[in-house]
Amino acid sequence: MSKTKAFFADLLRFDDAGIARLDRDAMVRVDEGRITALGPAAALTSSLPHDAERIELRGKTLAPGFVDIHLHYPQLDVIASPADGLLPWLNNHTFPQETRFSDPAHGAAVSEIFLDEMLRHGVTTGLVFCTSHAASVDAFFTASQARGLRMVAGKCLMDRNSPEGVRDDTEQSLIDSEDLIRRWHGRDRLGYALTPRFAPTCSDAQLHGARELATRHEGVWIQTHVAENHDEIAWVRELYPQSRSYLDVYERFGLLRPRAVYAHCIHLDATDRARMKALAAAAAVCPTSNLFLGSGLFDFAAADEAGFDYGFASDVGGGSSFSPFRTMLAAFEVARMRGKTLPPAELWYRHTLGAARAMGLSQQVGNIAVGMEADFIALDPGATPLLQRRSSLARSLDEWLFSLIVLGDDRVIHQTYAAGAAVRPGQMA
Ligand code: GUN
Ligand code: ZN
Repeated sequence: MSKTKAFFADLLRFDDAGIARLDRDAMVRVDEGRITALGPAAALTSSLPHDAERIELRGKTLAPGFVDIHLHYPQLDVIASPADGLLPWLNNHTFPQETRFSDPAHGAAVSEIFLDEMLRHGVTTGLVFCTSHAASVDAFFTASQARGLRMVAGKCLMDRNSPEGVRDDTEQSLIDSEDLIRRWHGRDRLGYALTPRFAPTCSDAQLHGARELATRHEGVWIQTHVAENHDEIAWVRELYPQSRSYLDVYERFGLLRPRAVYAHCIHLDATDRARMKALAAAAAVCPTSNLFLGSGLFDFAAADEAGFDYGFASDVGGGSSFSPFRTMLAAFEVARMRGKTLPPAELWYRHTLGAARAMGLSQQVGNIAVGMEADFIALDPGATPLLQRRSSLARSLDEWLFSLIVLGDDRVIHQTYAAGAAVRPGQMA
């Protein structure tokens, strides 16, 4: 039995109706990595065991750890590689870097740096692409497990239209995926995601095999890319002339379902959106990536009208930042470009509880509530002079959140906690 912990801070959370609220002078109690009580500090302190560890965070705000529902750990060194769109970017920058992950030592080293970056930016859960090399998945899970993190990841399936060094073999890729599921799925806080890279690089047999594994292993995730870029879409049309749309290719293979997360979803039509909703699949919205690669602008109004779940994601290394603040600001700007104004609390929700919900994990992470896992961050609104000034002028919670979204960066993340333990690199108090 580990010691009871009690965190004293202001508290940002979502209430039962999903509304963001700020509780001043709160206490959050954590036992065995889970939240067991929260409320006004004055009322709860006396109920603590005498040997409880007290973590005083006065002037800071405790908030849910961010959830990033689409990012590629092997693309750490691809960030900041400009290209004339998705397909040249994949061929000239991404595939060559991913080839290096045939070396397990490289995967292990990059996993550590990647997790450091996630935690430095306050991201405690990710839905993560590895490469097609099974060893890259072992490396990422091993590093995540050692840090006690809730992470979902999987081996890329890509058996065609991709270069030697990253292309896998159909049968072996499915054997490897199943072996990884058996060894990692449900172990500690880890989960496995079947990861067909995208329709152009997966044979019919491979997509069919992915579906079989998804059926055989309860609770596994599916992650892939869809409708990101016009050249990509034209390619899919050539490969699958009989399919109604790009999304329809996945539906025909039975890959639209709960716990299936589709990255980008920019160029969907009304029927696609209705299918996402009907089959309870979710979208990962990646605005910094979509701007960086010039892919397009996610249609928030159409997504809300259709009513399917979506959450925010960095899509590192197509995305240009690990920072949830950058992603939320880019989402705000993308929505503005299409005439919609996203409220700050909603932006925050889409990167926390809403993102967890899109992954089917909203009972575990994404909020600070009794029964949930104790993954949270301590925010410092005084981290920079300008943020200090602007945030102190805020007249409402929305204004305060927006000052962080627009002006915040990793300096605002004073500390990151996973299962109640401090995990932000370089700052272990
Ligand atoms: N489509 C297929 N692979 C990728 C990838 O690695 N990144 C992005 N953004 N889109 C993809
Ligand atoms: Zn991606």
